[in-house]
Amino acid sequence: MAVTSNIVILTGAGISAESGVNTFRDRNGIWSRVRLEDVATPEAFAAHPGRVQKFYNQRRAQLPSVKPNPAHHALVRLEQSHAGSVTIVTQNVDDLHERAGSQNIIHMHGELNRSLCAACGASAPHRGDLSIDSECASCGAIGRLRPDIVWFGEMPYQMDRIYDLLRDCDLFLSVGTSGNVYPAAQFVQEADRHGAHTVEINLEPSLGVSDFAEARHGKAGTLLPTFVDEVLSGQYRF
Ligand code: OAD
Repeated sequence: MAVTSNIVILTGAGISAESGVNTFRDRNGIWSRVRLEDVATPEAFAAHPGRVQKFYNQRRAQLPSVKPNPAHHALVRLEQSHAGSVTIVTQNVDDLHERAGSQNIIHMHGELNRSLCAACGASAPHRGDLSIDSECASCGAIGRLRPDIVWFGEMPYQMDRIYDLLRDCDLFLSVGTSGNVYPAAQFVQEADRHGAHTVEINLEPSLGVSDFAEARHGKAGTLLPTFVDEVLSGQYRF
C-alpha cells in the first residue's frame, strides 16, 4: 500500500439504517410503501407538487431525531488518520456523514437540507418544510422551490469529479448499497479498471457483488469500524 494511497467510499442507505433511517429496497423499505414514480421524478413533481413536498418534508423532519452510528464515525476516523485522501461519495440525502464530522463528502443524489429553485437554478441551505407556495430567496419566484434531490431521470451531481476520483483511487469501498441504481452501481467497475482494490461491506450480497475483489457481509456499524482499524493499523494491505 502506498503511504499516500487514495480511498473512495461509496455509501448508500444501509450505512444510515442503524441510525433509524429507512432504506429503500429492503422488505420494509421506502419503495415498498411509496411508488418512486409518485415522488421521485420530475414528472411527479410537475403533476403533484404538494405530494412530493410532503414526502420529502417528512423525511427532512426525521433528521434531527436520528444520530450518526459507529459506521459514520469510523469513516471520520479514517479521514482524520489516513495519510492519503479519503472521499465519501454518498447516495444518501441525509446529513449523518456531516454530523459525524466527515469533511470530504460528495452528495451525488443531493441533500434534504437544501432547496433548488426550478426557475433560477439556485441551490440553498433549507431547514423546515417546503411548500407549493415557498419563495426563492434568489429570484423571488413563488412555487418553484423543490428539494435539492436528484430524481430518477436527472443527472447525479459532480460526476466528472467522481470519475476522476475513481480513476485515481487505490481502494474503493462500497458500504450499504444494493447496487440497483446507476451510475453509482458501476463505480466499482471503473475503479477496478484503473487498478483499485475493491471491497463491499453490506448486510447481504449486493447485485454487483461479483465485481468486487472482496466482500464482507453483515451490519456496517460492526464491520466498518473493524475494517477501518485494519486499514489504519497497516494490517490491511491493498
Ligand atoms: P437500497 O435500499 O437500495 O439498499 C440498501 C442496502 O443496504 C441493501 O442492500 C441492504 O441489505 C443494506 N443494508 C441494510 N441495513 C444495513 C446495515 N445495517 N449495514 C449494512 N448494510 C445494510 O439503498 P441504496 O442502494 O442507497 O435514490 O439506494 C440507491 C438509491 O436508490 C438511493 O440513493 C435513492 C434510491 O431510490 C434516489 O432517491 C434518487
